[in-house]
Amino acid sequence: MSKTATLEIDGKKHEFPLIVGTENEVAIDIKTLRAVTGGVTTIDPGYKNTGACESAITFLNGEEGILRYRGYAIEDLAEKADFLEVAYLLIFGELPTQDQLDKFNADIKEHSVVDDDIKKIIDAFPKAAHPMGVLSSLTSALTAFNPTSVDVDSEEEMYNTVCKIMGKFPVLVAWTMRKKKGLPLNYGDSSLGYVENILEMMFSKPNEDYKQSEILVNALDKLLILHADHEQNCSTSTVRIVGSAHTGLFASISSGISALWGPLHGGANQAVLEMLEAIKEDGGDTQKFMSKAKDKEDPFRLMGFGHRVYKNFDPRAKIIKVAADEVLADLGVEDPVLDIAKGLASEALSDDYFVKRKLYPNVDFYSGIIYRSMGIPVEMFTVMFALGRLPGWIAQWKEMRARKEPIGRPRQVYIGENHRAFKAVEKR
Ligand code: CMC
Repeated sequence: MSKTATLEIDGKKHEFPLIVGTENEVAIDIKTLRAVTGGVTTIDPGYKNTGACESAITFLNGEEGILRYRGYAIEDLAEKADFLEVAYLLIFGELPTQDQLDKFNADIKEHSVVDDDIKKIIDAFPKAAHPMGVLSSLTSALTAFNPTSVDVDSEEEMYNTVCKIMGKFPVLVAWTMRKKKGLPLNYGDSSLGYVENILEMMFSKPNEDYKQSEILVNALDKLLILHADHEQNCSTSTVRIVGSAHTGLFASISSGISALWGPLHGGANQAVLEMLEAIKEDGGDTQKFMSKAKDKEDPFRLMGFGHRVYKNFDPRAKIIKVAADEVLADLGVEDPVLDIAKGLASEALSDDYFVKRKLYPNVDFYSGIIYRSMGIPVEMFTVMFALGRLPGWIAQWKEMRARKEPIGRPRQVYIGENHRAFKAVEKR
């Protein structure tokens, strides 16, 4: 393959180098575009064709349905690793040895206590507040209680900061839910594993011991692993761009949480369950909702379908579908909503509209069904996504700073008024 791309503007040719990634992805390096063309820029709404960075964290091939973290297949990680190992892998680049893993676990526990004044902030939120708004605010508030900004060139400081956020974030997640349920805010039991303690913190009651269920621990572990990173998606790009202004890690992650909240991104898992419930309430006619989704005059979309990058299938959805079947069978749950989901999926997979546009069930289509069977309220689903995505956000922020990337600042093409004379208020 040629090593350059040629662009011709007004009869003048400009050469740009091609960059080839380790999986042979090709990109045109246009860093010098404006300088050599005298100010010509590119435009690409939604960044459908624009690579924002070079990254060594996650590889995704949407055509073939491949997802790998640091070279390891998502299928292997979901089957053989636990969430903390995957978090370590994403953040530090290699799977941990047993000693490294034990130390990471212990250091996270050491840092998991949050300042007690955070409880006052939680108390100030109305009970009706959406948990994603509360979580984003609490994560940002951590900055006030952990004021030292991290020296990204110090391995030790970076490590401690990672342990702090990995330790405190699940506490905030659990407290967000407990506050809504009117339960006392607790720290669980630090002798438990990371995922076990998340369940303990979320579900323990003041008057009885919480019994751990291996089924739920395994299911949550898998869900968190599947959500842990997804390269340059909306929330991750947000974390990177906020961090590119040298904003701290906690504040950058807080903005990532806000981005994730939207129904076209992580908020889809809540939207899917609400949609399935609405179909059930309406009498279960899936065809009616399929027609609505295809009608261009109707804003309704089939939530949990389609993906910006996956145009074949979402490998995470495949794993989750099997997990949903297993968890529901193990728990003995019969959920009519799962039948509606299966019906919709099989109709969409053979419907011309969906086939032509390569719209397949995505990760969020089935995750809510598992969360619901675990007793997690619908409004908490996207919070669970954030809990899983945390190591990805950390890894991407850390990589961006370590590579000394410049501040993110896209250009635009101005389409407004040309220069005009100012009119005094009485003359307008
Ligand atoms: N239902 C009906 N039509 C759809 C859907 C859908 N869920 N998704 C896309 N389309 C149509 C869309 O109307 C367009 O049709 P046309 O070419 O006739 O105008 C075509 O498919 C391409 O859609 P697009 O919106 O240009 O594609 P995109 O890459 O900009 O959007 C998406 C990707 C995920 C935002 C979109 O598929 C969607 O809104 N899906 C529903 C929300 C959802 O499930 N989001 C979770 C994504 S996975 C979790 C995560 O990583 O956040």
